Amino acid sequence: MLNFEHYNPTRIIFGKDQLFRLPELLKEMSAKKVLIAYGGGSLERTGTLKLIQDQLIDFDVFTFGGIEANPEYTTLMKAVKLCKSENIDFIIAAGGGSVIDGVKFISGAIFYEGEPWDVLQKKEGCNFENALAFGTVLTLPATGSEANSGAVINYSELKQKRVMGGPKFFPKFSFCDPSQVATLPARQIANGIIDSFVHTLEQYITYPSGNLLQEREAEAILTTLLEIAPKIMKDPSNYQLAANLMWCSTHALNGNLRCGVPTDWATHMIAHELTAHFGIDHAQTLAIVGPRLYEHQFDAKKEKLVQYGSRVLGLKGSDTDVAKKAIVRTEEFFQSLGVRTKLSEYVTDLNGFAKKVSNTFLERGWKEMGETKMIGPKEVEEIVALTY
Ligand code: NZQ
Ligand code: ZN
Repeated sequence: MLNFEHYNPTRIIFGKDQLFRLPELLKEMSAKKVLIAYGGGSLERTGTLKLIQDQLIDFDVFTFGGIEANPEYTTLMKAVKLCKSENIDFIIAAGGGSVIDGVKFISGAIFYEGEPWDVLQKKEGCNFENALAFGTVLTLPATGSEANSGAVINYSELKQKRVMGGPKFFPKFSFCDPSQVATLPARQIANGIIDSFVHTLEQYITYPSGNLLQEREAEAILTTLLEIAPKIMKDPSNYQLAANLMWCSTHALNGNLRCGVPTDWATHMIAHELTAHFGIDHAQTLAIVGPRLYEHQFDAKKEKLVQYGSRVLGLKGSDTDVAKKAIVRTEEFFQSLGVRTKLSEYVTDLNGFAKKVSNTFLERGWKEMGETKMIGPKEVEEIVALTY
């Protein structure tokens, strides 16, 4: 088992009809001028915006809507301006991963004197030193952003999607109400299942870690997701199923699964490039890249693929057969949710794209990705070419 440090201060309030606790929590934070940040309109349509506003009669409330899926830098900078001019002292991120990630960025950028994109580009000496306190009202179980300190921000003009984060960016609290799942379109439920599944795989399909508990927890999340996925796709208003999906997605990326185990994350880093260049949904890009990366890294990951195949998928046969079938079954699972797994099914002109991605990684100095630093620009090019 590897050494680890585990820290997660986010207070999770899980379940239906809990928003009445919002004023009490905001008062604990001494919040007075509160911004509700949200997305493109679902929050208004579902009535959640009104539910939040109804709780905030004792506060000075501002709203900022229009944060896109794959939150846009230029939109978020408008919110930064509003927060500065109105002296906002607390932000409520009400939405899915995009709104929550966007608010993490806003909370850091408010205090930053220079050009905040420099921080995301990891320019030397550029850091978010402070962050404004924020909490979340989660409306889409997928990313785990409600319970972690990372964020991914898109700058479409530059065709870049970059990550940021650090301990300052944990939400103070997150309301996780499974009833929110009932209004989600099928595409977003499928995305949520796949994102949670791949977050778990990134921290599990590596090499045997010796952390038996953590590996079993990862297997529990994968097994639960496989069990509930077809049912919740048919019946999103089933509260019990939705509650299990929501808890799986939070648990998959709240920092717990990575304790004492090697982690990969190369699927995510490559997949972000597919969103940055073609605007493909985050989870769809994972379904495109993940299976090909496991094939490419078959020998390095074989032992864990066998463990996953036998314990989670119930496969039988020789080790090589089980490991190969595990990849096939994983891809079939993504497809069963209505998600296409070939890049050429989304984009017709892929001329030179694999090389472009590997050049980008080279420029950024990303030469050693994966659990044993075995994925560099050359491997990235090969993996992306396999996704066509
Ligand atoms: O914009 P609105 O109108 O609100 O509609 C949203 C959006 O179009 C809609 N939606 C959300 N809740 C709803 C709803 N529609 C009906 N009923 C509801 N209850 O769903 C659409 C997608 O929302 P979005 O927030 O983009 O989805 P998701 O939660 O999958 O977030 C994806 C983003 O998170 C990043 C991704 O890269 C992507 O930018 N990630 C963040 C991570 C993190 N911070 O830890 C980790 C992930 O790996 C991921 O990279
Ligand atoms: Zn993800």
